[in-house]
Amino acid sequence: SLSEKDKAIVKALWAKISPTADQLGCEALSRMFLVFPQTKTYFSHWPDLSPGSNSVKAHGKKVMEGIGEAVNNIDDLFGAMSNLSELHAFKLRVDPANFKILSHNVLVVIAKTFPKDFTAEAHLSLEKFFARVALALSDKYR
Ligand code: HEM
Repeated sequence: SLSEKDKAIVKALWAKISPTADQLGCEALSRMFLVFPQTKTYFSHWPDLSPGSNSVKAHGKKVMEGIGEAVNNIDDLFGAMSNLSELHAFKLRVDPANFKILSHNVLVVIAKTFPKDFTAEAHLSLEKFFARVALALSDKYR
C-alpha cells in the first residue's frame, strides 16, 4: 500500500497538476480513445468522440475531479470512491480492466506535461496510487 512518502509525493504533484487538470483530463481521454479504441464502446452515445471534442473535454474534467477526490481522501480511498465504484459497476458496467488503461493514459499525460517532476521516484508513487484507485473503483463489483 501507499507509504507516507508516496502520499506526500502524489499530493505535491497533484497540487501542480490541479490548475490545468481539465486540460490534462481531456488529453488523457483523447489519447485513451486513440490508443485503446476498444474503450470507445462505453461512450457510443456521445455525439463526438474525436480528440478534444466538447464531450471529451467535459468528461475529462469529471474524471480528473474524481481522481482529485481520491488525492484529497488518500487515507480513505475506498470510502471516497465507493459511489463511483457502484456507478461504474452496476449502472455503467465498465470492465475494471479499463481502469488501468485510463490511469495509464493519465500517467503518460502527466509525464509529458511535467517532465522535470516525473522522476522515477514520482513515477513509482503514482503507479502505486493509481493501482489503489483502480482497486477502490473495482471494490463494489460482485
Ligand atoms: C462517468 C470517474 C474510469 C466509463 C464517470 C464520472 C466520473 C468518472 C466522475 C461522472 C459520474 C457522474 O456523472 O456522476 C472515473 C474515474 C476513473 C474512471 C476517476 C478512473 C480513474 C472509467 C473507465 C471507463 C469509464 C476506464 C470506460 C472505459 C465511464 C462512463 C461514464 C463515466 C461511460 C458515463 C459517461 C456519460 O456521462 O455518458 N466516470 N471514471 N470510466 N465513466 Fe468513469
